[in-house]
Formats: sequence, structure tokens, C-alpha cells
Amino acid sequence: MPRPIRRIALNTGGGDAPGLNAVIRAAVLSAIHRGWEVYGIRKGYGGLLGEDGIVRLDRESVRGITHLGGTILGTTNRGNPFEWPLDTPDGITVQDRSDEVIAAFNAHGFDALIAIGGDGSLHIANRLAAKGLPVVGVPKTIDNDLACTQVTFGFHTAVQTATDAIDKLHSTAQSHERVFVVEVMGRHTGWIALHSGVAGSADVILIPEIPYDIEKVCEKIEERYTDGKRFAIIVAAEGAVPRDGEAVYIEPARPGRPARLGGIAERLAAQIQERTGHETRSLVLGHLQRGGSPTAYDRLIALRFGAAAVRLVAEHRFGTMVALDPPTVRAVPLEDAVRGLKRVPLDSDIIETARDLGISFGD
Ligand code: F6P
Repeated sequence: MPRPIRRIALNTGGGDAPGLNAVIRAAVLSAIHRGWEVYGIRKGYGGLLGEDGIVRLDRESVRGITHLGGTILGTTNRGNPFEWPLDTPDGITVQDRSDEVIAAFNAHGFDALIAIGGDGSLHIANRLAAKGLPVVGVPKTIDNDLACTQVTFGFHTAVQTATDAIDKLHSTAQSHERVFVVEVMGRHTGWIALHSGVAGSADVILIPEIPYDIEKVCEKIEERYTDGKRFAIIVAAEGAVPRDGEAVYIEPARPGRPARLGGIAERLAAQIQERTGHETRSLVLGHLQRGGSPTAYDRLIALRFGAAAVRLVAEHRFGTMVALDPPTVRAVPLEDAVRGLKRVPLDSDIIETARDLGISFGD
């Protein structure tokens, strides 16, 4: 007979995404509804390692937060307890503090952890689950790159933000007869670029799943200028790769943190201007895509995920992640969810739609 659930903890890890607070609210209210106590671990696992601590979450602490961006618990993408950065006289090294995390978790008398995170955070959750931590994952990321779930919350809001920006660029691009290259987030997948590019009527969309040829990109631009449409909008995923090259990084990997993508738009703008002679500007949307109020769609997914995670805890279904499998939310093994990235399928309807609309992928 498994021990009854009385006290659970929540944490949010990795880059923030609109909808985190909605998950927290749904999980807290669903847990209180069952008579459980709920605590928030601040800043990923940092709160269990003495950083900023643990906070009690009651009805009052989650009142009026469904529509708020960010996370009331704070987050970090440098908080992997298996590779905790440590300052030493020889520079930064990493240390495995996972046993300390588990000891602190047990010392607080927690019966379960709901870990809300993306690929990196859920990898950590999966490793902690393998060491016996009772954990249920909730898939979060604007990148939408987590496997086993149709969508992650935060993605829809990021696409809306990027689409609004692309819409706004149209008039200035047209007035100045310029080419604009807009860089959007998404790490090594092109979900945000593809969805916002199609919705925002881009002329060229560059995604990591389809390596591009700069000559083809320029051909499409010239085609527009020849047709009398003397401006063009290119949406490039930050992880887009040229056919014979590599993705562009702004910062290499360092102990305890991964390499940071960035700079593709600037590089493309220079190449396009040089090859076509058309004035070309670049714009990096950056962290704007992670900010703001979640769309109604993201709020609903987030609320459903939070409530579903509590149901899984009640059933002692640990080592799982909640996943959207329309029309339902179901449990999938955490290890399946983190096995590989969910990339844009090349035979998907949205790719086909884009091609039918005359959008180029630079291939
Ligand atoms: O995973 C979310 C994300 O916003 C990616 O799209 C992006 O590459 C990365 O995080 C940026 O991370 P940071 O906040 O460390 O700059």
C-alpha cells in the first residue's frame, strides 16, 4: 500500500514561459482540494540547496495569477543539480549535488514533486526519478520541442508575439523598400519560425529542419523585387543552418550551462545585402517571446496540465509527464519524453501549406 499523499512540492525550471503561473495555480488548488499541503521550491532546485528556500503555497498565494507571465517561484537555466556550477580557484567546475537535493526533499517531508520544465529540466526530473524521487513532469517551453506531447504551453503565446512583430514590420519594410530578417527563438527546432512565419505572411522561413542555401534565399527576394513587390520578410529560427555550415552561436557552452544560439539574422542580413544590393535590416525578437500574458489557449493548456499532474500524483504514477493528446491529457513516461527533440516533420501539413502559399524555405 503506497503511503498517502499529504504534502507536495512544485518547482519551475529552465527558461520561463507564459502559462507557468497558470500551472502553479491549477496544481495548488487541485492539491488543496484533496486536503494536501503545497510548497514551492524557489529557483528550480536551488531552494532545496539553500538558495532562496521553500515557500508555502496556499489559496491566497495563487490568487489572480492565471494571466500573469513569468513564474512566482522564480526559475533558472543554470540549476542542474547533477552539474551544479562551483566557483573554484581554478575556475568554474561542476559538482553532482543530486543526493543533497533528494535528502533535502525527504527532510521537508514531501511526498511528491511536480516539476514544470522543458527538455533540460525534465531530463533532470527523469534522472531524479531514476534515483527514487517521486516526480511528475509538466511540459513547458515556448520552443514546443518536447516529444510525446502535441504542444507545450507557452508556444502559442510566443507564436502570437512573433506574428504581431512580423505584422508590424510589413509596413516599414514596404515604405523603405527593405528586406527584413527576423530572428525568432526555438533552439534546434523551427516551430516558432514556421508558425509565426506562415501566420505573418513571411516570404522566406528558415528552420533547422531544412538546411538553407543562401543563393535560393536571394533568388526568392529578387523574384519579389522583379514582380514589383519591393520588400521582403525573412523569418529565421535562431537554430537555422546553412546547407554547408553550422548554426550560429553567441556564446559557447560553459560548465553548468549550454551554448547560446544567436546571430543568424545579422549574418543573413549582411549576406543578402551583399548579394542582392537591397538594403537589409535584421531584428532579434529575443526574450520578448517569453514574456507577457499567456493567450487563452496557453492558459487552458497550462491549467489542464496542472490539474492533470495532481491527478497523477494522487494515483502515485511517478516518473511520468502529462501530455496533450487531443482531446485528452494523458500520462507518458518521462524517459520517453526526453529521449529526443520533437522536430518539425518535413511532411507536415503546415510545411506543405507554406510551400503552396509560395513561401520559400531556402531549399
Ligand atoms: O528554451 C527557451 C529559450 O527561450 C530558447 O528559445 C532560447 O534559445 C533560450 O531559451 C534562451 O535562453 P537564455 O534565457 O538563457 O538566453
